[in-house]
Amino acid sequence: MWRFLMPGAIGWTLRTGAYLLYDTITGAPPQPLRVRDFVAEHAKRGDPASVLAAMDRFAREVRFLMNIGPDKGPLVRELVAKLPDGARVLELGAFCGYSSILFASALGPGSRIVSIEKSEASVEGSRANVEFAGLSDRIEIHHGSSSDVIPTLEGPFDLVFLDHWKDLYEPDLKLIEKHGLIRPGSIVVADNVGELFGVQSYLDYVRGCGRYDSEHRPASGIELYSTVAGRCSES
Ligand SMILES: C[S@@+](CC[C@H](N)C(=O)[O-])C[C@H]1O[C@@H](n2cnc3c(N)ncnc32)[C@H](O)[C@@H]1O
Repeated sequence: MWRFLMPGAIGWTLRTGAYLLYDTITGAPPQPLRVRDFVAEHAKRGDPASVLAAMDRFAREVRFLMNIGPDKGPLVRELVAKLPDGARVLELGAFCGYSSILFASALGPGSRIVSIEKSEASVEGSRANVEFAGLSDRIEIHHGSSSDVIPTLEGPFDLVFLDHWKDLYEPDLKLIEKHGLIRPGSIVVADNVGELFGVQSYLDYVRGCGRYDSEHRPASGIELYSTVAGRCSES
């Protein structure tokens, strides 16, 4: 918890806390449903780029969004775009569907994005945005907790994007391995691995277990947002 009071994070913590308080007091609808309505009003149906642009605009003009966004998004999109035709991507944490839409639009029509999301409002909002973007045939959003849904999935996946709650990165990656959802050559990307987020045990695991060839990709000056891509060398 103290990490959120460090100098690099204090502005974010105060702003996010103030917004949460304001939304609770005013009884505002859940954020993913506000984003869904904003997208429907400002984006063009069937045009994924305009859906992403509308979400970026919401984040700039209305309220901070905890999605991968326009600064870090291209880093992961670049990895996704190199995957072969028919690639399968597993995402933990859909929120408003931003990263799913970003990845699906970088891949061909035969590809699949499987995203797991536990919040009902986020499932509703992200499915609506995916449908609006015209990508429902490529993106499946499963409602449930990652630890419950992972064992029900069939692998393998070519890329796994970890972007849910940070204390679950390590146990969920181990669960993914246990259920054979990745194979040699699969890429695992974890968002937000800066010091602030407390993911040291995850980093120690991927760097030390001998299965991953890890790469750290800093994405901002204060290391708040960074990414580790591990190419799984054995399953
Ligand atoms: C950072 S947001 C995801 C952002 C999204 N990947 C994007 O870039 O557009 C994290 C999401 O993970 C979800 N989440 C947290 N823990 C989860 C779990 N155990 N299983 C599934 N979803 C979870 C939260 O409800 C939240 O919507």
